[in-house]
Amino acid sequence: MVKRCVLVVGGCTIAVLVVVLVVFLVVVLCKKNNFKDTFIQDCERKTAEGHSTYCVKVWSAFEQAYVDHDPCQVPPQAYDHLLSIAPPLPKYNWTLFWSGTREVAHQMSGGCYQTLEDTMLGSVLDGKTWCGKQGSNETFDSGCPNWTQCVNNPVRSFWSRASAEFAAVACGDAAVLLNGSSDTPFDPHCTFGSIEVKNFTPGLMKSLTVVLVTKDNVGANCTDESLKNLQKELKPGMKYICKEKTESELLTCKKNQDQSCVPCW
Ligand code: APR
Repeated sequence: MVKRCVLVVGGCTIAVLVVVLVVFLVVVLCKKNNFKDTFIQDCERKTAEGHSTYCVKVWSAFEQAYVDHDPCQVPPQAYDHLLSIAPPLPKYNWTLFWSGTREVAHQMSGGCYQTLEDTMLGSVLDGKTWCGKQGSNETFDSGCPNWTQCVNNPVRSFWSRASAEFAAVACGDAAVLLNGSSDTPFDPHCTFGSIEVKNFTPGLMKSLTVVLVTKDNVGANCTDESLKNLQKELKPGMKYICKEKTESELLTCKKNQDQSCVPCW
């Protein structure tokens, strides 16, 4: 009787251990491949060719930038190769920059206006966190340094490098949505002010329209001091235009916009 009990308890314990081990392995393996799989699937969805070989090549160039590196020692140039094979090329009538207006900019984007986050790499990586670790060939999506913890972290460096490239290839008429409710709608320390404006290519970008966005017409107008600093940054030959719009004016216009892409400002 005692022997039978020992056998049953022993058997049950082993069965429980096996189940725990299997669940643990499934969780670990899924987590390990999740970031890579999602990256490649999203890349395939966003590329016209839909070639998985292309997206595997993009993934390799991406991970090469930060894998096996100290997550505070990944400079923007680490993504040079990635951006050379997957450049954020202009696709719609208007290239749309933004600063302090993330939400409204992305409500406007698509169709006629292209933000960085509408490009293939931008959309694949928007909202994601990633980093590597010295001595490991893995990609981690948690426990990574945050935006301000160290400047050369993999996420911040990617957005800096991609923003510089996105600005450098912007052509024709571009626009930037600036926050009219902020004390300094043009902030020279933000990505738009410190990277994008400095990378515009003269001869390629013909005009920049600043759209000062307010909730209800209360806030900064086109005479705002900070905008003078923006004008000073523009290279000769680039036309500067400024418009004041409320968020609801922009969103109503967007809703009724047809393929002619007459701008909403
Ligand atoms: N901590 C975390 N995230 C930050 C921080 C921070 N301190 N600063 C900026 N970010 C990230 C956030 O994801 C935020 O939504 O950058 C985003 C944009 O910040 P803003 O200050 O609103 O704008 P800006 O820095 O000018 O960057 C926007 O850069 O991504 C490109 O083309 C895009 O024109 C756009 C510009």
